[in-house]
Amino acid sequence: MVGLCFDMYGTLCDTSSVRDRLGAELGVAERLVAAVDETWRRKQLQYSYQSAQMDEYEPFWELTARALDYALAAYDLDPDASTRDRLRSAYDHLDPFPEAAATLDRLSDAGHEVVVLSNGNPEMLDRLASNAGLSEHLDGIVSADGVRTFKPDPAVYGHAAETLDRPIGECRLVSANAWDVAGAGTAGMATTWINRHRDPSETIGATPDTQVSTLPAVADGLR
Ligand code: LAC
Repeated sequence: MVGLCFDMYGTLCDTSSVRDRLGAELGVAERLVAAVDETWRRKQLQYSYQSAQMDEYEPFWELTARALDYALAAYDLDPDASTRDRLRSAYDHLDPFPEAAATLDRLSDAGHEVVVLSNGNPEMLDRLASNAGLSEHLDGIVSADGVRTFKPDPAVYGHAAETLDRPIGECRLVSANAWDVAGAGTAGMATTWINRHRDPSETIGATPDTQVSTLPAVADGLR
């Protein structure tokens, strides 16, 4: 039995569910909504890497706001501050992927310790886990905020192993983010990559131990 560390954004919860809120608040064409969403998410991740590299830590909630400001400016959109706050709070209400809760339950029933390991700061992770109905299906939530840096910094995966009180080799990261899997494997974790879109593997960092295409398939492979 191992410690299973699930990534949150894009793995248990679908970040593209912010599109409904973007569409309703901005009142622009669907294609533009998709472009803003794509830029928002890409910048959010890029800012986390940059912030870790520059040793200028800011909680993921703040970086999410900064990334939103960038995405809006990139498409000449300039909503007021309260609209921006409502847009960001869409990150508190992401849809869980179908069978997320059932998959966590199957893995817990099989005897594994099941936690979230995310770049989100604890407050935003608690809100999302609760709103998405996942809190009661988890043994805990581990945030990169505990070491004030972001995945794929090895310190974050080490922090998870320490929190779970297990050697890092007895922890497994489960993530749909290929860069996260490459980072966790490089830090010494076992890894499962949920490759929903048949993307190629990363060409830097560790290759995934296991590759599946859906959340339920994670549980099929680890029973
Ligand atoms: C997470 C994001 C970055 O750590 O995918 O949950």
